Amino acid sequence: MVLAHGSRSKVIAVTSGRGGVGKTFVSANLASSLVERGLRVLVLDADLGLANLDVVLNLCHKITLHHVIAGKSRLEEAIYKAPGGFSVLLAGTGTVEFSRLASEVHDEFLRIVESLLPNYDIVLLDTGAGISEVVQFSLSMASEILLVVTPEPTSLTDAYATIKVLAAQQKLQKLHVVVNQAVQTVDGNVFTTKLQQVLDRFVNKDSEHPLKLIHMGDIPVDSAVRQAIMKRQLLAQSAPGCPAALAIAQLASKLEDAVIKHGA
Ligand SMILES: Nc1ncnc2c1ncn2[C@@H]1O[C@H](COP(=O)(O)OP(=O)(O)O)[C@@H](O)[C@H]1O
Ligand SMILES: [Mg+2]
Repeated sequence: MVLAHGSRSKVIAVTSGRGGVGKTFVSANLASSLVERGLRVLVLDADLGLANLDVVLNLCHKITLHHVIAGKSRLEEAIYKAPGGFSVLLAGTGTVEFSRLASEVHDEFLRIVESLLPNYDIVLLDTGAGISEVVQFSLSMASEILLVVTPEPTSLTDAYATIKVLAAQQKLQKLHVVVNQAVQTVDGNVFTTKLQQVLDRFVNKDSEHPLKLIHMGDIPVDSAVRQAIMKRQLLAQSAPGCPAALAIAQLASKLEDAVIKHGA
């Protein structure tokens, strides 16, 4: 971790092995649930290649962190209030400097995130999928990582490949796992346990810092999610009380306990 974190504020990266698993959906709706719990939350759309948080939240916000780093806008101008009561900062996409993460951009990015920390209890980083340099950079800023996986059999291999790299590069000791788009026949806990077993066998056995997976819950596949995204709304607006919304509320509570209250 490269950020000097305040005593309370936490940076949580939401990441995945592959795209389209629900990182942005989870980030936005988790943020809204955390706000309901009385926390001050900022979501940073750090998926530099495929940012879509603005689309999901129906924000026509065009000032990004990129404008701030380029000296074209002030930081306050780049921070927007989302419908769920949390703040949003878009990193900005498609710039060569960002995709290569030139070291001055890197430093400036860090400095800005650090300057924001005192204003929030939780900063959620909606990262890109996979293990590119940019994703690694986002993850290195986080004090906690929430890995979103889906329950198809291939997803296990996918998640394992990502975890293996994370274990090696980030020297992680714990990783929070949430199983999204869970179907009735899948128990996310079993899924996480299987992942842990493979990890113990092939990665942890020679490691001084064994990585422990913490199962944070399952979010069911729910038609209300697609409908909410089509309407560009949060579940709290379009379908409060639907199964996915309840699961996200549980995740928020568990995350608050693990990360804020017990400082896990
Ligand atoms: N729990 C869920 N139930 C039903 N559909 C879901 C669920 N989670 C995600 N989706 C679908 O997956 C799509 C991709 O989600 P998104 O958050 O954009 O993925 P990512 O950010 O990981 O690329 C959403 O547009 C939505 O249709
Ligand atoms: Mg996304």
